[in-house]
Amino acid sequence: MSVLRLGVNIDHVATVRNARGGEHPDPVAAARAAVAAGADGITMHLREDRRHIRDTDLDRMRATVTAPINLEMAATEEMLRIALAARPHAACLVPERRAEVTTEGGLDAAGQRAALAPIIAALREAGIRVSLFIDPDREQLEAAAALGAPVVELHTGAYAGGRPGELERLARAAALTTGLGLECHAGHGLTYDNVGPVAALPEVVELNIGHFLIGQAILDGLPATVRRMKELMQAARRN
Ligand code: PXP
Repeated sequence: MSVLRLGVNIDHVATVRNARGGEHPDPVAAARAAVAAGADGITMHLREDRRHIRDTDLDRMRATVTAPINLEMAATEEMLRIALAARPHAACLVPERRAEVTTEGGLDAAGQRAALAPIIAALREAGIRVSLFIDPDREQLEAAAALGAPVVELHTGAYAGGRPGELERLARAAALTTGLGLECHAGHGLTYDNVGPVAALPEVVELNIGHFLIGQAILDGLPATVRRMKELMQAARRN
């Protein structure tokens, strides 16, 4: 069987933590649990507005999580500085708009070559594996290759949204990566129900999945957590 890694995106553990402004649940503890369960890497997106993970989460993650860390980041000077200091295994350049709920579309690698080239070069020089999060289009793939990015992550959001023809579009894009010398990753909106056809694309070697996993972990974990709280309550009453 060929390689297919799972990168677990822990951003939404931080979303829940931040709802109360405290330290629980800790995204770094969640990352350790994911790695113990077989995650091949941890993905985190340090957004300009720090809406989920914080700078200190990245530092603690680097210090205590042994699995490869993939830092999703906007192609800005500030994020470049942070990435060069943190030295994650990989950096995935994503488009970022403050008002968006999540990363809505791929990076326009073809339209932003001049802005992206120095950032990609600086990350590569620091030994950080660069990927570009792009829509599954030939023009974007060719631009990524021309920019010297070793990896692309194909945006699976339109496929996950059920748009007809999107699986075929992903398959065509994945097939092009080999000839262009690009390593192929994919992600966004993947769930138990829709992961199969993307996982079956032979060129894809890594999937990055976040929102569904964290949501499902709440559903799967709630029964044991409620049982534990009731035990503690009842034990206190008995004493
Ligand atoms: N890959 C990239 C580049 C992303 O920006 C995101 C969302 O942060 C994901 C994967 C994961 O998407 P989801 O949370 O929908 O699984």
